[in-house]
Amino acid sequence: MKLRLFCALTLFLVASAVSFSVAGGGGNFDKLTDADRKVFQERFTKEIWPLLHRGGKDSCTGCHNGKVVSALKYSGNADKDFPKLLKDGFFIPDDSGSMLTRIMSKNKKQMMPPPGKAERWKDAEVQVLQKFVDDLDKKQKK
Ligand code: HEC
Repeated sequence: MKLRLFCALTLFLVASAVSFSVAGGGGNFDKLTDADRKVFQERFTKEIWPLLHRGGKDSCTGCHNGKVVSALKYSGNADKDFPKLLKDGFFIPDDSGSMLTRIMSKNKKQMMPPPGKAERWKDAEVQVLQKFVDDLDKKQKK
């Protein structure tokens, strides 16, 4: 009985730690106005989505389609995915599980796309995402 309680407690702690890190510790951009959201949604569809989608099966969206074990899941529809990615903290500038951090990582176990699976993003492409993330961050902090 005691052991069971202990297991339940451990599970609970692990689960809350995971959800905390996925949510990025409050970085869910809750201060954005509806107008801001609309502007960023349009920019996401125009600037970021083609990069995430490029390469079909081997693209970010191709791999993260719900079949790989990852908190990041793209439905394939930019309009639906953006609000979710935003809320789940994937645009936080310096979170270890955010898109930008994983794309820029030099650590083979962290970098996205995983080494050998698809081409790394060119600097100019990373900068497009970097600018997007910076602009979002500024809006949130304003
Ligand atoms: C070949 C399949 C594959 C491709 C392509 C791929 N990923 Fe991943 N990604 C994974 C797997 C598997 C994980 C979970 C393991 C890990 O954390 O490394 C992951 C983890 C992540 C995470 C951490 C989210 C989490 O689960 O905590 C992010 C963010 C991410 N990927 C972004 C990207 C982006 C952005 C691209 C495109 C540049 C990309 N991935 C391309 C397989 C892929």
